[in-house]
Amino acid sequence: MSKHNRWEERYKIENTPWDVGKPDFNLTSIVTKRPIGVCKALEIGCGTGDNAVWLAHRNFIVTGSDVSDIAIQKAIEKASNTDLKCAFVVADFLKDEISGAPFGFIFDRGCFHSFDSDKERKRFAENVASHLEKGGLWLSIIGSADDLPRDHGPPRRTARDIVVAVEPCFVILSLHSSHFDSNRPRPPKAWVCLMQKRNRA
Ligand SMILES: C[S@@+](CC[C@H](N)C(=O)[O-])C[C@H]1O[C@@H](n2cnc3c(N)ncnc32)[C@H](O)[C@@H]1O
Repeated sequence: MSKHNRWEERYKIENTPWDVGKPDFNLTSIVTKRPIGVCKALEIGCGTGDNAVWLAHRNFIVTGSDVSDIAIQKAIEKASNTDLKCAFVVADFLKDEISGAPFGFIFDRGCFHSFDSDKERKRFAENVASHLEKGGLWLSIIGSADDLPRDHGPPRRTARDIVVAVEPCFVILSLHSSHFDSNRPRPPKAWVCLMQKRNRA
């Protein structure tokens, strides 16, 4: 089964432990406390849309994109019957250009970390940079290798994995250890990385 079909299958059989039914506190706290000003925002790998819808409620003009049709259908349903400025598109971020660029803010929770090789993660970071305006921000929530070894749950990436992929195109503004918002008794550890596009990227 291709990687894309595996994501679709997980939404089909509802094996989606990451889908906690609310926006992740790491996103809400950084957007509100930094604060990140209202702008055009893109969520990559938005799943069923809770983070994108939260941003739209805060007046961001949001595009949510995901490779899974089922996830995007659910996200569209969530945003329907509201007057939120929130569009959802099915797209493969490693291949497709998302319309609406340049964005001022890009967010992903668990999408960047899903790529296993340095090469793919570097390509992902380059594509984020090409969708951002000058000085634009990228916030990524990434499974952490400092979590205990386990045979399920999010991928476990090291700080090195992140730095190698993002540094050519991004200045790292902050990288801190946190955990995913989760319905599990022991939430998986996460890196929360806020980056700014380099002038030359
Ligand atoms: C761990 S899930 C997280 C979903 C959502 N961000 C959330 O927090 O609920 C990763 C998401 O990335 C999407 N994804 C994986 N590869 C992708 C790609 N190449 N382009 C766009 N989305 C992708 C999957 O379909 C899935 O919805």
